[in-house]
Amino acid sequence: IRDFSRVVTIDGPAGTGKSSVSRQLARRLDGDYLDTGAMYRTATLAVLRAGVSPDDAQAVESVVASVEIDVCTDNDGQTVAMLDGEDVSAEIRENDVTRSVSAVSAVGAVRDKLVARQRELAAGHLIVAEGRDVGTVVFPGAAAKIYLTATPAARAQRRHRQDQRAGRDSDYATVLADVERRDHLDSTRAISPLRPAEDAVTVDTSDMTIDEVIDRLESLVRKRIGVA
Ligand code: DC
Repeated sequence: IRDFSRVVTIDGPAGTGKSSVSRQLARRLDGDYLDTGAMYRTATLAVLRAGVSPDDAQAVESVVASVEIDVCTDNDGQTVAMLDGEDVSAEIRENDVTRSVSAVSAVGAVRDKLVARQRELAAGHLIVAEGRDVGTVVFPGAAAKIYLTATPAARAQRRHRQDQRAGRDSDYATVLADVERRDHLDSTRAISPLRPAEDAVTVDTSDMTIDEVIDRLESLVRKRIGVA
């Protein structure tokens, strides 16, 4: 029996501040950070590199079955994504990966493989796991579950600024359309749709700064995982 009693889950759509919040919360708790989205992005990169259509579920399944996908964190707590031993951390944030990741992550066999790895990585650790289904499917017995939301406009604005800061081409209207399209796909898919776990605490971050969100979650989580 695996021990997930010190796992904290943070689910929610893109652009809620989820990644920054999860990473910094992990640091404050002196725990690890697990970015499950990076694993689905890495799987998507493998599919694109293989020249396979992300909509061809059979082909996606066989590509993903044949590669090794892993994530860890560097000294700053940033996610490092590995595809067959190659560091692909920058490439998985590119727009073509972002556009195809919903299709790849809707394939059951892809999810089974990555969920199994996520459980291995988390077992026995104090870890903040971030994703879409970590509270509902991956770690149903987690110690604390958070669901972050924000209005589509607030989320698109954040993603847009993030892209600009990273030097990626970005247009607000396109980002907003992308956010809404991805939300729709992620929350209506048959397997592991995006939704809050019944026992999750929902926090709307539209009018909160990242620091306010982290403070709020830290006090909430410390009580539950028994870290003073
Ligand atoms: O958090 P992100 O934007 O890096 O996630 C990329 C995609 O991966 C997201 O659109 C849906 C998918 N995903 C998922 O299906 N399940 C997870 N636990 C995490 C991400």
